Amino acid sequence: MKILLTGTTGQLGHALLSSLQSAGTIIVPERHEMDLSKPEQLRTIIRQIKPDLIINPAAYTSVDKAETEPELAHAINAIAPGVMAEEAKNLNAALIHYSTDYVFDGDKRNADGGLQPYVESDPAGPVNVYGKTKLAGEQAIHQSGCRHLIFRTSWVYSLFGKNFLLTMLRLANEREELSIVNDQWGAPSPTNWLAKATAHIITLSQKTENSDQWWNQHQGVYHMTPKGKTSWCGFAEKIMLQASASGLLTKAAPVVKGIPASEYPTPASRPVNSCMDTEKLVAHFGLLIPTWEEALVTCMQTQARS
Ligand SMILES: NC(=O)c1ccc[n+]([C@@H]2O[C@H](COP(=O)([O-])OP(=O)(O)OC[C@H]3O[C@@H](n4cnc5c(N)ncnc54)[C@H](OP(=O)(O)O)[C@@H]3O)[C@@H](O)[C@H]2O)c1
Repeated sequence: MKILLTGTTGQLGHALLSSLQSAGTIIVPERHEMDLSKPEQLRTIIRQIKPDLIINPAAYTSVDKAETEPELAHAINAIAPGVMAEEAKNLNAALIHYSTDYVFDGDKRNADGGLQPYVESDPAGPVNVYGKTKLAGEQAIHQSGCRHLIFRTSWVYSLFGKNFLLTMLRLANEREELSIVNDQWGAPSPTNWLAKATAHIITLSQKTENSDQWWNQHQGVYHMTPKGKTSWCGFAEKIMLQASASGLLTKAAPVVKGIPASEYPTPASRPVNSCMDTEKLVAHFGLLIPTWEEALVTCMQTQARS
C-alpha cells in the first residue's frame, strides 16, 4: 500500500511516521514540493504519487495567529483537505484526516448545568477562525464522497515539537510559580497514542476481505481522545507531579496556581468545554482508550528513559 503522509515535521505527523512503518510504503514529499497553501501544486503531486491512502495531520495550528491570517488558515485547513479528498475520490484512494474539538462552541451542558461531552452528531459552532477553517475542511471531505475517516482530537502534546507539556517542563525549571487557566476543560491527547490508534484502524481496514463494505460501514467522523477530563491547570499539576517523580526537574516543582481564562486573554476565543465522547470510536474499532492520566504517564516515562 502506498501512503502519502503530510506534516511529518509536526507533532502528530512525526509520531505517525514511526507508527506506520509496517502499514505500507510511506511517501513524505518535501515542504517545497507540497505546500498545502498551493492547491494546484498539491493536486499535481497527488496525481504523480497516486497513493492508496492519504494521511493528513498537517494543518495551520496557530490558533491565535489565525485570527489575523484567516485566508492562509482557510487555504491549509479547508481548501487543501478538499483537494486531497477530490483527488482521493478520483484515485479510489482513502483519506485519513485530523480535526479538532474547536469545531464546537464549548457550551454543551447537561440538565444540572454540568459539562456534557460532545458526540459526533452534535451541531458544530466554532468560536474562532481556526475552528471555522477546520470545520470547513471536514465539510469539504464529506462533500467529496471519497472514502474517509476524520479523527477529531484535542489538546495534542508529545515529546516532540511545540506543545503544552514541553512548555510546562521548560517553565518548571525556570519559575517558582505558574498561573494556569482552570476554567477550560478537555482531554489532553498524546501523539504516541493517537498514532498507535490510527495504525490499529489502518490494519483493520487492510485485513478486511471486502474493502468497499468496510469503508461503507466505518467512513465518517470520530472523536479520538483519552478518557476523562481536566483543566489546563489540572494538566499542569499532573505534569509537575510526574516530572518530579521521574527525576526530570533540576529543582523543586513550581507551585501551580489556577486562574480564570479572563485573566489570560488571547486573540482567539477558546471553548470552555472541549470534552468529546469516544464511544463511537470504541464501538467501531474496539480500541482500548486510556485515561488522560495514564496516557500522560506513558508518554512521560519515555522522556524519563531517554
Ligand atoms: N495541537 C493541538 O493541540 C491540536 C488540538 C486538536 C486538533 N489538532 C489537530 O491535530 C492535527 C495535528 O496537529 P499538530 O499539533 O501535530 O500540528 P503541528 O505540530 O503544528 O504541525 C503542523 C504540521 O503542518 C505542516 N504545515 C503547516 N502549514 C503547511 C503548509 N502550507 N504546507 C505543508 N505543510 C504545512 C507543518 O509543517 P512546517 O513544520 O513545515 O510548518 C507541520 O508539519 C492537526 O490537524 C490539528 O488541527 C491539534
